[in-house]
Order: sequence, then structure tokens, then C-alpha cells
Amino acid sequence: MERTYIMVKPDGVRRGLTGEIINRIERKGFKIVAMKKMVIARETAETHYGEHKGKPFFEGLVNFITSGPVVAMVVEGPGAIAEMRRLMGATRPWEAAPGTIRADFATTVDENIIHGSDGPESAAREIGIFFKPEEIIG
Ligand code: GTP
Ligand code: MG
Repeated sequence: MERTYIMVKPDGVRRGLTGEIINRIERKGFKIVAMKKMVIARETAETHYGEHKGKPFFEGLVNFITSGPVVAMVVEGPGAIAEMRRLMGATRPWEAAPGTIRADFATTVDENIIHGSDGPESAAREIGIFFKPEEIIG
């Protein structure tokens, strides 16, 4: 079954939106097969967002994602990678479709509540960064 890496970002945790997001994932019918709250180390954040290294927003992005606890998850279900991206909505919340998480809860691109892997390769890579195989309980 397909798996994706999902993370409630520090703004979502600070604003008490973790439960709302878990609720949406579970109501959809997806299964949370791993979950933990953690503060991401700077080096790990730089690895996770490695594709954006050199972009003007990289430094701010790493500062933000390490600014407080996140809630990291592995979410499993049919088409989980693309479906979770659809439930999240577009990166820029003002472009996100109504009813999506980013449209409903975010206003800025810098603090957009949730992360989800953008394809099968990033899903495998990101799950490997944040979870040990034995932490995933199917
Ligand atoms: P993530 O789930 O966080 O990876 O978001 P995404 O896949 O929808 O977007 P992407 O991977 O392209 O960018 C990662 C993060 O960098 C985004 O969530 C934004 O917070 C930030 N970001 C992306 N593009 C811009 C930009 O043009 N300006 C600023 N300030 N931030 C950006
Ligand atoms: Mg991304």
C-alpha cells in the first residue's frame, strides 16, 4: 500500500491544529502508521529541504521548520501521495482550493501548516529521514 510522509509544521502545532489535521486524514480513510512529535535538528531540516538549497527562501524555510515542534507522520492508503497533496491544497494558500487544509487555515506561503511528499521518491526518502522501519506499524 502506498505511503507518504506528512508533517504538521510548527505553525500548525502552535495554533493547535494537529487534531484537526489528523481528523481530516482519518476521515478520508487513510491510516496513520507512524507518528511522533519532535523538534527537527537544523542539519536534518537542511537534508529534508535539500532540493531548495540556494533558493532565496531556503534560510527562512529552515529557520521556520526548526522553530518549534512538528508532528511527523507516515500516512498509508490508496494513492496516498497525490491524495494528501490534494487535501493539503496548493503551496501558496491563496491559490489553494476552498476546503483544503492550506486554504482553510493558512494565509502565507512561509507558514502553510502542513508538509506532504510530492512523489514516490521523495516519500521514500523523507520517511527514511524521520522514521526507523520499526517505528512504522502497519
Ligand atoms: P512542502 O510540503 O513544505 O514541501 O511544500 P510544497 O511541496 O507545497 O512546496 P515546495 O516543496 O515547493 O516548497 C517548500 C516550502 O518552501 C513551501 O511549503 C513554502 O513554505 C516555501 N516556499 C516555496 N516557494 C516559496 C517562495 O516562492 N517564497 C517563499 N517565501 N517560500 C516558499
Ligand atoms: Mg515540497
